[in-house]
Amino acid sequence: MSKQNWKPGNMLYPVPAVMVTCQREGEKPNIITIAWAGTICSDPAMVSISIQKKRYSYALIRDTREFVLNLTTKKLAAATDYCGVCSGRDTDKFAQTGLTPCDSMAVNCPGIAESPVNIECKVTEIKPLGSHDLFLAEVVNVAVDDALLDETGRLHLDRSGLIAYSHGGYYELGRQLGTFGYSVRKRRRMHKSVQKILQRKNKRIGNNCIENGLYRSEPDKAYENSCFVRLCLCTSTGVISAVDQSTACKCRPSVFSSLNR
Ligand SMILES: Cc1cc2nc3c(=O)[nH]c(=O)nc-3n(C[C@H](O)[C@H](O)[C@H](O)COP(=O)(O)O)c2cc1C
Repeated sequence: MSKQNWKPGNMLYPVPAVMVTCQREGEKPNIITIAWAGTICSDPAMVSISIQKKRYSYALIRDTREFVLNLTTKKLAAATDYCGVCSGRDTDKFAQTGLTPCDSMAVNCPGIAESPVNIECKVTEIKPLGSHDLFLAEVVNVAVDDALLDETGRLHLDRSGLIAYSHGGYYELGRQLGTFGYSVRKRRRMHKSVQKILQRKNKRIGNNCIENGLYRSEPDKAYENSCFVRLCLCTSTGVISAVDQSTACKCRPSVFSSLNR
């Protein structure tokens, strides 16, 4: 692969483009779009945002030492862009975008109700770097949309339509290629007790039948690179549930991973 060497510049992509909310007491709340944002520590949970001094939001966040990071979605893409090209100096961005301010739990500035996740932050340090000042902040509360939680309380962030920003463009996320650690994950053997239950059922269905009441279809296109297959749990009355690898593993990891070969 032949490469050109460019002068130093920002080329770390994709990044999240978040809508950061801030407010000085007694004034209107503001929204600034920030792409130079990142997770910087797990414990304590910390994030950073870099802001140019000339931004209207700069002084708000410097003085109040609080802000909320609001994750952005496909539905919020236009508003995200708008809040990145208009200034709160002469615009009420909540009014212009139709977004709704929502109360925060641990900071005094509001989040954005339409955003699936609001990350409330308190500034711990401001570091001048050059064009931008780096704000380090501790996460003091995370508010998550109920609709993204399943009955066990597990968050399905993938269902929120998150977007990324890359080299001047906004993009929706594509299909999942794997999950954390999938490249080294070992396949487990079926647990003996499960084998026994399945042996009792021992149902055969068409060409795709595999023994013991579990049916496996052709590899699912969505998972073709990660050798996942779509599985159906069968009973004497037929196929009762079609589940993908991730769902299946959550219910009965030993059953489903042993079939995934
Ligand atoms: C996608 C995108 C990402 C941006 N990222 C940053 C950033 O990381 N830091 C920054 O200071 N400005 C950034 N900006 C510019 C500000 O969002 C923009 O100047 C905004 O109008 C400032 O609003 P304010 O004056 O109300 O604070 C970005 C703009 C866009 C569209």
